[in-house]
Amino acid sequence: MCKVAVMGYGTIGSGVVEVLTTNKAVIAERTGEEVEVKYVLDLRDFPGSPVEKLLVKDYKVIVDDPEVEVVVETMGGVKPAYQFVKECLENGKNVCTSNKELVAAHGPELLQIARDKNVNFLFEASVGGGIPIIRPLTQCLTADVIEEITGILNGTTNFILTKMRDEGADFETVLKEAQELGYAERNPEADVEGYDACRKIAILTSLAYGKQVDYNDIYTEGITKITVEDFKYADSIGATIKLVGTGKMTDGKISAMVTPVMIKAGHPLYTVDDVFNGIYVRGNMLGDSLFYGKGAGKLPTASAVAADVVEAVRNRHNNVPIIWSSDKQHVTDYKDVVNSFFVRAKDTSFDEITKIFGEVTKVDSLVDGETAFTTGKMTEGEFEDKYAKLANAVTRIRLAF
Ligand code: HSE
Repeated sequence: MCKVAVMGYGTIGSGVVEVLTTNKAVIAERTGEEVEVKYVLDLRDFPGSPVEKLLVKDYKVIVDDPEVEVVVETMGGVKPAYQFVKECLENGKNVCTSNKELVAAHGPELLQIARDKNVNFLFEASVGGGIPIIRPLTQCLTADVIEEITGILNGTTNFILTKMRDEGADFETVLKEAQELGYAERNPEADVEGYDACRKIAILTSLAYGKQVDYNDIYTEGITKITVEDFKYADSIGATIKLVGTGKMTDGKISAMVTPVMIKAGHPLYTVDDVFNGIYVRGNMLGDSLFYGKGAGKLPTASAVAADVVEAVRNRHNNVPIIWSSDKQHVTDYKDVVNSFFVRAKDTSFDEITKIFGEVTKVDSLVDGETAFTTGKMTEGEFEDKYAKLANAVTRIRLAF
């Protein structure tokens, strides 16, 4: 018998209890013993709920109970989760978390404590919700040099962008719907401004290259400026718009970015719609691979946390190595990253445009008085200088082709 405690009985925490209860028999078969939830930590009361009698309000009850060997952290945020998780690990408990803020900010330190104590700090659900991506990166693709990871890593924004494209729907209405469905963070800014995707690509890039990528070093743009007209332009060139996080190695240098991009049909991520996430990984031996599934929502995310619980129970006295050192990974200044761009400008002739950008590819105008075009490849810095010279620029979106 292995005793588990769950810290945080919100959407994901209650989902983890549900998975561990519903699949109790199969989980016992796979771990070789029964897995039982002994405590649920939450400041709220849940009268009549199945965990009513397991509720505790003081995390020390969990930290100080030697019978608890695996702790699930589903509170979210860095404070107080960091302190709780750290103390659990220091007290020799395995920890499984879905908390990307915590993992992105303190992953290497918590992994080191787990190594020192010969336990595990597991975070499969922190990226891609229910999609297996952390274990594939840290266990299956360990013989490859990862050349690129590009992911649709945020279910809420993918849901919003898909609805805007398919229904010509307004941003605010679709955001509300996403929140009602439990996809969006309480503070929608984290989703729509790209901060959530930024933490996730920081985690993936850190794991791919083994050093700490500071999420503050990742250039990040959200989707708040994307309009229904942008989708019409995208459609006219056989593309759609997605928010992607990219981490890649070019000539030995690591770059990482989160931005909306136009993706053409045929790209592995083109058909990843709604709340689904897709993570494209290119390895130097493997070539292309795509990890696809539900990137947000109660049970998909809880399924990944519960799988970590199974892994933790199986290895609870044995640290399974995850290589992620606290050494800082240098990330190329985004101004030196090479991209191509789609551009819209008002009242601007093609002569003016080619004088600034050189040769461009014209895109048929879909809005009166506008000129639209795509550029060739250039650094972000070069593009910014040229774009600043366009007196009546409307918008620009990077091309993923
Ligand atoms: N708000 C996040 C998303 C939840 O929409 O992807 C999963 O991390």
